[in-house]
Order: sequence, then structure tokens, then C-alpha cells
Amino acid sequence: MTQRQLLHSQNSLLSWYVTDARSELPWRKTSNIYHIYLSEVMLQQTQVSRVEAEYYPRFLKIFPTLESLSKASLDEVFSLWSGLGYYRRAKNLHATAQLCPDGLPNTSAELEKLPGIGRYTASAICSFGYKQSVSVVDTNIARVLARFFAKVDVKDKELWVLADNYLNLKSATEHNLALMDLGAMICTPKNPKCDICPLITGCIGKENPALYYKKKKITYVDKELHHAICIEDNAIAMVKSKEGMYKDMLELPSLEAHKHEDTCLGTFKHSVTHFRLKVFVYLVEDLGEDITWVALDSIASAPISSLTQKAFAMYEKSVA
Ligand code: ADE
Repeated sequence: MTQRQLLHSQNSLLSWYVTDARSELPWRKTSNIYHIYLSEVMLQQTQVSRVEAEYYPRFLKIFPTLESLSKASLDEVFSLWSGLGYYRRAKNLHATAQLCPDGLPNTSAELEKLPGIGRYTASAICSFGYKQSVSVVDTNIARVLARFFAKVDVKDKELWVLADNYLNLKSATEHNLALMDLGAMICTPKNPKCDICPLITGCIGKENPALYYKKKKITYVDKELHHAICIEDNAIAMVKSKEGMYKDMLELPSLEAHKHEDTCLGTFKHSVTHFRLKVFVYLVEDLGEDITWVALDSIASAPISSLTQKAFAMYEKSVA
């Protein structure tokens, strides 16, 4: 690609961003580094619409600064995260706030030393927050670049080099956001809308976009879980999870299914990361475990996962 072609495509990308993309998202209209960091953490595995409408504004209302977050308990943070999933993100966010209550560092190298911050998040903070001229590669941008430069089976390292070479040094922040939106809105995994793409002229991969995009294969694991609902004096028995993806959160006690078959309230399906779960819920009267009693009227604000919420909803339906 000649220098002229490069410049031309960068300019048409920017024009498209201004008129057709998502520049109005709240975290794009702030210069608060913590808010931008929070949005990146939330957006890692969650749809933009859910983050924008619910989780981001609610979280910032309670914890408007890193300092306020650093003083919170992990349970409070989990409560605000409830339903978002991937709770390790919330734990890392909280740990980072405690390490840097007065502000995040402004270099990728320093940011990457913090819990849960990898190359993508560090560069996103530097580009979108500190407005530095650095490239950013997320899955959307990776797909756009692989197609634009027609690279089959391209490795991460090479994608970052392509992103560096293609970076618009004069408007790096908008350039990166535009590439991200192009991947989300035009250069989509299936049926990309090449006919309205601002990069069509220079795109080497446009004849066969499927060739340059490979979905990561997920190997699903089917698993059954058996959880007990035990209610006494308007409180429900919970246990603090000691390991796994719900570590430190409250969950319903587990039990040995064969002893309780006759008290099964029902089952539901739940998917989380690569697990496809079938969850059995039992109503039991006695539990010998290390129990934390949670008042029924405070369940909504307790640090529980959506799996636990679903199990509780099943109980509520059964007594309604
Ligand atoms: N704006 C900045 N980062 C974003 C992201 N990860 N997803 C959507 N919009 C964003």
C-alpha cells in the first residue's frame, strides 16, 4: 500500500466514525481515566448495551472514584457486579483500586503490572484515556486488520505490528475507536457489509472475508450442580465459595443429590464460560455446613451470581 492509499483509507475511516459510529457512548465522552478503565473491564465479556444502560452508570453512582472503590468491601463490589459474570474482573478491579487509589499510571508497562490488566486494556487506557498515540488490538480490530491486509491465521504479535503500521498518528484515539466500531458494525464475523465499508478501496481481503476470520473453538463441558435452598426465620442459608470462578461470593450450599431426590424443586440450564450447567435445586431443612444466613429481603443486594439468583427465583416461584 502506498503512503497515499494509506492516508486515504485512514481519512475515510475517520469520516465514517464521525457520522456513522458510536462516538456517543458515555465512556467515550469522558476524560476520567478511572471511568474509561471501568468501562473497559465491564466491556471485556459483556454487551455494550447492558454496560451502557445498567452496570456502568450504577457502579459509578456508588463508586465515582478509584479512592471510593478502594475503600469498598469486596462484597459491595460483587453486589454491583451481580449478573455481569466473570467475577474475577470485579476482584481485579477492586485490587487495582487498592493499589492505586490516587490514579492509574500512564504507561502500558506500568499498567500491565496491575491485576487483570493485559496488553489490550493497558493500551485502551493509554489510547482512549491518556490520548497517547498507541495502537489497540481487540477481537474486532484484529478481524478488521486481518481482512484488510489479507492475513490468514495471523498471530497476535503480527496483528499488533499491523496495527502500529496502520495507526493514524494524528488522530490515534478516534482511529482506534473507529476500527473497533467498524469490526462491531460493518466488518462483522458473518456477512460483513463490504458494500458500505469505508475501507473497501484498500481492503485486500474483501473477495473472501471468511478466509481471514476464524472463530476460536470452544470445547464445552457439561456439568450437573446440586444446590440446596434452606430457609429459616426469613433468612436463607448461603456459603462463601472457597474456590473456582465464584470464589469469595455467596452461593447456595451444595449437596449430595441422591439423598434429596424427593425434595427437588426443579432444574434449570445455565451457561458460564465454557461450562454448560444443569442445576438441580432442592428444598431442605437441615444443613450441617458453615452457613452464612442472608435475610430474604436483602438477597437483591447480596454478592451473588446470576446462577444463584436463578435458583432463588425458582424457590420464590414454588412458594408464590
Ligand atoms: N469504547 C471503548 N472501548 C470499547 C469497547 N471495548 N467496546 C465498545 N466500545 C468501546
